[in-house]
Amino acid sequence: MSANSKPIGFFDSGLGGLSVLKTARRLLPGENYIYFGDNLNAPYGEKTEEEIKKLTLNACGFLYDKGVKAIVIACNTATSAAVIMMRETYNIPVISMEPAVKPALQGRREGNVLVLATPATVSQARYLGLIERLNAHSEVISVGCGGLVELIEEGHTDEESIHAYLSKRLAFLDGQAIGAVVLGCTHYSFAESAIKSYIDKITHTDCPVFDGRHGTARQLQRVLESQNLLREDSGEGYIQFYASLPGYDISRFEKVYNDFNT
Ligand code: DGL
Repeated sequence: MSANSKPIGFFDSGLGGLSVLKTARRLLPGENYIYFGDNLNAPYGEKTEEEIKKLTLNACGFLYDKGVKAIVIACNTATSAAVIMMRETYNIPVISMEPAVKPALQGRREGNVLVLATPATVSQARYLGLIERLNAHSEVISVGCGGLVELIEEGHTDEESIHAYLSKRLAFLDGQAIGAVVLGCTHYSFAESAIKSYIDKITHTDCPVFDGRHGTARQLQRVLESQNLLREDSGEGYIQFYASLPGYDISRFEKVYNDFNT
């Protein structure tokens, strides 16, 4: 098989990265894809950096052994903990996520930027370094949302469940002006409309929502182009889905992927 027709590997702790896969496939429909959700070990966001590194190394190893031409770490938590190590370990391009704080600072309305991400992401050096580089400490409110990934994995993306969660987790905001929301975890894209309606309700505004998946998809395209790795054959490529949880009904990933339309 020529290097160009090899698949692109996508990885997340569960179904969150399917939002990134869908976004990438809209941009690059001719590519072949392999998706691996490590749902046996989810959530990653409440584990230590060392544990996340080990799990990410295993997950990327699974994709590498399948012969992928590039790996997309479709998980902010795994990116924060392990992207540098993955780039040192694998001799293929490794593309990753970044919470969309910069576009949110530029595109916000009046008020601070609210970043929702996993507890691990908001406490790791990579994220703290991003806020530092943007010199945005006083304009960004970072909230580690323990338990939210589990809700979304269980399919509770409806307003009732998400509003009940956020009303507890964000009670401390107490009327502060919020000018933009960043979804800093790829799972949260599946609850975007419920998250937005909650923020709109408490701020009485139409609050813009930012998400890193479009930037990651464009970066994947740029990297494949610059390394002459784009698939040359015409026609739509395939997607294969894998999960680490024994007995998991893999058609659920396919359904979640197909139903994601934002
Ligand atoms: N989708 C992952 C992220 O973007 C969630 C990690 C988790 O399993 O907690 O951070």
